[in-house]
Amino acid sequence: MNPRGRYPPPGMGSGGGGGGRGGGNMYPNANPNFQPRNPQQYVQRGPVNQQQQFQNQQAQQWLRRNQLASDSTVDEVEKTVQSEAVDQSSQDWKARLKIPPADTRYRTEDVTATKGNEFEDYFLKRELLMGIYEKGFERPSPIQEESIPIALTGSDILARAKNGTGKTAAFCIPALEKIDQDVNAIQVVILVPTRELALQTSQVCKELGKHLKIEVMVTTGGTSLKDDIMRLYQPVHLLVGTPGRILDLARKGICVLKDCSMLVMDEADKLLSPEFQPSIVQLIRFLPANRQVLMFSATFPVTVKDFKERYLQKPYVINLMDELTLKGITQFYAFVEERQKLHCLNTLFSKLQINQSIIFCNSVNRVELLAKKITELGYSCFYIHAKMLQDHRNRVFHDFRNGACRNLVCTDLFTRGIDIQAVNVVINFDFPKNSETYLHRVGRSGRFGHLGLAVNLITYEDRFNLYRIEQELGTEIKQIPPHIDQAIYCL
Ligand SMILES: Nc1ncnc2c1ncn2[C@@H]1O[C@H](COP(=O)(O)OP(=O)(O)OP(=O)(O)O)[C@@H](O)[C@H]1O
Ligand SMILES: [Mg+2]
Repeated sequence: MNPRGRYPPPGMGSGGGGGGRGGGNMYPNANPNFQPRNPQQYVQRGPVNQQQQFQNQQAQQWLRRNQLASDSTVDEVEKTVQSEAVDQSSQDWKARLKIPPADTRYRTEDVTATKGNEFEDYFLKRELLMGIYEKGFERPSPIQEESIPIALTGSDILARAKNGTGKTAAFCIPALEKIDQDVNAIQVVILVPTRELALQTSQVCKELGKHLKIEVMVTTGGTSLKDDIMRLYQPVHLLVGTPGRILDLARKGICVLKDCSMLVMDEADKLLSPEFQPSIVQLIRFLPANRQVLMFSATFPVTVKDFKERYLQKPYVINLMDELTLKGITQFYAFVEERQKLHCLNTLFSKLQINQSIIFCNSVNRVELLAKKITELGYSCFYIHAKMLQDHRNRVFHDFRNGACRNLVCTDLFTRGIDIQAVNVVINFDFPKNSETYLHRVGRSGRFGHLGLAVNLITYEDRFNLYRIEQELGTEIKQIPPHIDQAIYCL
């Protein structure tokens, strides 16, 4: 490993690598409405009539849910009995839930600094609440507190929150709440940039909606189009998928989106990159004019602005990122020559307490080569990239998630959204070129406020990128010390 002194960027003195907060410098125009959070924020942000509408809606739902006797002829005794029965049944349904064992690991403020809301405050359908609690969610995370009530009012949202802080449920919960399961139509579409993320997100929808009768379908490239067509003859309420395949099905008239009142774009900035944007723009034309659009990501470069102005109607801008990197992740770099990288990785494997790790390379070729080398070194390792057959990709994803293997080598296919709670170490075997990619990659560990470690192997050519990314993210990537205390990434 033998990390040497740091190469300063051109025109700078020695040392380099600034700490401190540079959160504002990455996307200068991205969040004009950004204000630091305070407990009243979401109440203040909405126009008054929306707030009233929301309160009315809440009141109506409350009445419906508890079936309170509105008929004045019902006698008082019966009313009391009824309300006691309601109380009793509200105790009963909670007592009958199959709640998983609590995760007692330490969690950072990234997820604990909430306003103290409860999921029950949102007057959600009881069956949905059951799914939420059975998934092990006790109370909403900060982004869920901000987004859920606003999304329920029907407003468009552009929301930015750190990696692993619960954005998925922040849009899935309102989506599931708003779907009318008696109407046989696609009412929500959730777009994501990769097939694996589509599978993961549809799984979250199914789990949260376990007690609802909502039909969730996932559709992505790399699978049989015929199977998807057959499936679409059956009821589908919520469609999760990648843009190309959904557009294909919509153009064929198989996937009917005229009643789709909500479009969610997860990893929205990625979906608006040149690779996807044309499909998104075409797809949006199949939706009704009064659709609600929810955009989520941890990164919103200025390029998103045009789309936002064109396709979103008075969106709520939620920005929970007064700093960009996760509080639970410690970042190190090791300065190496290209030919020393494998040796360095070997040392890391022998010294670190890896629960599960994700190791990023910058090309498909390098992923395959590295995976082979790691196996030769005697460590267990899977690999995944976009040039593999989908069946194989699915198997690797599934098995790695289930802990069948400790290390996964991959391309940027796994950079965004992938949520594997057991991953506590991310290694950039090849350093990424831009700060968005860096942020999302290191965010694969430290999920939901847990601790994690990111180690970057830096070559002479990477030195400017390292410095720039540190500056853009306003974070400090320290030189790796000879010994790393387990307490900073293993609790
Ligand atoms: N309210 C909650 N209580 C407990 N755990 C939660 C809660 N909300 C989400 N989680 C868990 O937190 C993890 C991260 O959530 P999620 O994948 O939605 O993060 P994200 O914000 O979308 O991250 P990324 O930016 O990387 O996509 C998941 O394992 C999820 O089950
Ligand atoms: Mg996500």
